[in-house]
Amino acid sequence: MATALITGGTSGIGAEFARQLAAQNYDLVLVARDRARLDETEAHLQEQYGITVELLPADLAERDQVQRVAGRLADTERPIDVLINNAGFGVHSKLLDPDTSRQEVAIDVMIRAVLQLSNAAGRAMRERGSGGILNVSSTAGFVSMGLYSAIKAWVTTYTEGLAGELHGSGVRETALLPGWVHTEFHQRAGINASKIPGPLWLEPEPLVRQALVDFERGKVLSMPSTRYKVLMGIAQRVPRGAIHSVSRMMSSSRHDS
Ligand SMILES: NC(=O)c1ccc[n+]([C@@H]2O[C@H](COP(=O)([O-])OP(=O)(O)OC[C@H]3O[C@@H](n4cnc5c(N)ncnc54)[C@H](OP(=O)(O)O)[C@@H]3O)[C@@H](O)[C@H]2O)c1
Repeated sequence: MATALITGGTSGIGAEFARQLAAQNYDLVLVARDRARLDETEAHLQEQYGITVELLPADLAERDQVQRVAGRLADTERPIDVLINNAGFGVHSKLLDPDTSRQEVAIDVMIRAVLQLSNAAGRAMRERGSGGILNVSSTAGFVSMGLYSAIKAWVTTYTEGLAGELHGSGVRETALLPGWVHTEFHQRAGINASKIPGPLWLEPEPLVRQALVDFERGKVLSMPSTRYKVLMGIAQRVPRGAIHSVSRMMSSSRHDS
């Protein structure tokens, strides 16, 4: 039986990955901070799907805790076949806010942890000649909405680079590029999402279903929505100045909550 390790597997997109992989008979290792929620998720998945769930409570903003998760990924006795780097959160603050501590935590969780966990998993998988890493990025990486866009642009480009480095090794990599998805993300970040038009919202279930199909096929970039494929196709063709203007408008509408 194969095993998948999912960061942030207790809510939103990560919880949906956990459900769909459990339904495919994967055993799971779940990483998140909230112990009670990890316990609830474990009980539900075990009862519903009869799989084995291992809990690894960790705050991925903390270096030693990331190292513990990296150690689990490198364990040759209990191999991890699939790593889903999903944990993350919205960054509400402005780039020139005097206190950059929240932005630094965002870089720690969504860049440094992704780098270190992919490194540990990628090396172990390359050694075995099989496995896969899926990094949850965002279409926000195509625009310029502050630090969050910069982080997700990094995640996408990093995944493409990793796919190049591991080409021919038997290990596959995918960057998932969702648009707006109904999860706890916006409420947790204090982002005013009320002005986002209804048709731009995606649901976790079909998003993850298509992501797993793309991952299985070895697609490096997965954008599971025709609406977003069209929008991002346009975004890549218009002058960059137009993207800057749209990003400015979208950023200011998010801030007046
Ligand atoms: N929702 C969207 O519109 C959207 C769009 C594009 C991309 N994304 C990306 O999708 C991913 C998942 O977000 P979501 O929308 O599913 O949000 P969510 O419902 O808020 O879930 C976030 C998950 O990440 C975990 N997490 C957060 N900080 C963590 C930390 N420091 N250490 C360990 N785990 C942590 C949370 O668990 P604990 O709180 O228990 O730690 C939770 O399980 C993120 O990378 C996000 O950037 C979301």
